[in-house]
Amino acid sequence: MRPQLPFRVAVAALLVAGAGSAFAQGAPIKVGLMLPYSGTYAGIGVAIENGFKLYVQEQGGKLGGREIQYFKVDDESEPSKATENVNKLIKRDNVDVLVGTVHSGVALAMANAAKANNTLLVIPNAGADAITGPLCAANIVRSSFSNWQPGYAMGTVAGGKGVKRAMTITWNYAAGAESTKGFTEGLEKTGGKVIKDLNLPFPGVEFQALLTEIAAQKPDAVYAFFAGGGAVKFVKDYAAAGLNKTIPLYGPGFLTDGTLEAQGASAQNMLTTLHYADNLDTRRNNDFRKSYALTYKANADVYAVQGYDAAQILGNGLKAVNGDLSKRDQLTAAMRKTAVDSPRGKFTLSAAGNPVQDMYLREVKGNYNEFRSIAVKALADPARGCKM
Ligand code: PHB
Repeated sequence: MRPQLPFRVAVAALLVAGAGSAFAQGAPIKVGLMLPYSGTYAGIGVAIENGFKLYVQEQGGKLGGREIQYFKVDDESEPSKATENVNKLIKRDNVDVLVGTVHSGVALAMANAAKANNTLLVIPNAGADAITGPLCAANIVRSSFSNWQPGYAMGTVAGGKGVKRAMTITWNYAAGAESTKGFTEGLEKTGGKVIKDLNLPFPGVEFQALLTEIAAQKPDAVYAFFAGGGAVKFVKDYAAAGLNKTIPLYGPGFLTDGTLEAQGASAQNMLTTLHYADNLDTRRNNDFRKSYALTYKANADVYAVQGYDAAQILGNGLKAVNGDLSKRDQLTAAMRKTAVDSPRGKFTLSAAGNPVQDMYLREVKGNYNEFRSIAVKALADPARGCKM
């Protein structure tokens, strides 16, 4: 009789192991959305979540054959709370994948936590150059941009228009600093220079003293990085001060994306650069915009596109491994490798995990950022400091 006991134990162990893996295959994939749902970037967070869920819904609610279960944290665009917030998703909710966020300072903390815990991270906005630079890692990809990309593109456009003396204005944090640095690099390459960088603390909107300084310096153009509620206020204040009549206001497209209904007349005819334009007349973009408008009763914007594409990138990876998260290397390789069929146009990811994409010059007409030309074709972030 004695040999029977180990045999029984072995059979039981096999059954448990079998049931475990069958369960893992059938169980939902836990996606942790860490986004701003309050503060100046709240609208951006909602658009990203909407875009992500729209893609999942179009796939019948599944990616790689598995249901998706969502967990949410409002990060408030507050870097000092970022590590605690991301650990709610990693350690408390035990998510399989992190999706977030908007603010570069918060995203840097998420990237460090994702690296420390080897959690998958898909970034649907925050452009912090370091994330696809010195902090680059196999488990981190971005569906959006690096802060350098739209800035550099606008610098080349401004230089091409004969701008010799420009000023920049932004919030004093990573995204503003890197965006204006990209602009300066593009402008210097095309014959101009930045005579002064102005800034104020995030998410402040006390622009008056800075606008007075711009009026006094009379540069050929101003480049501004603001987004969300702050962008609405800045563009309105710039026009109210009468500056838009004499000094063109340029920016990365965030200055006029998701903001036009609130900015109204103050934003008309503004030129910006970004990897998306509302009226790209492709079937992919038209279908996306229609589906988004029907589902959410709102116009899609670049943030909705980035959320949608974050889900596509994850979906592409999961498809390659049939939803089996344990095939981690295959999964992360597939996420990087597939061309993404985005509403913005097809794009690929660099070795560092950042989109290589066309930068469009857009012009505001009514409530839309209309495509004018390709400012820079297939622009890749230089990925300075990334060793992969
Ligand atoms: C950022 O912090 O990286 C950031 C925030 C809002 C934007 C773009 C970039 O629209």
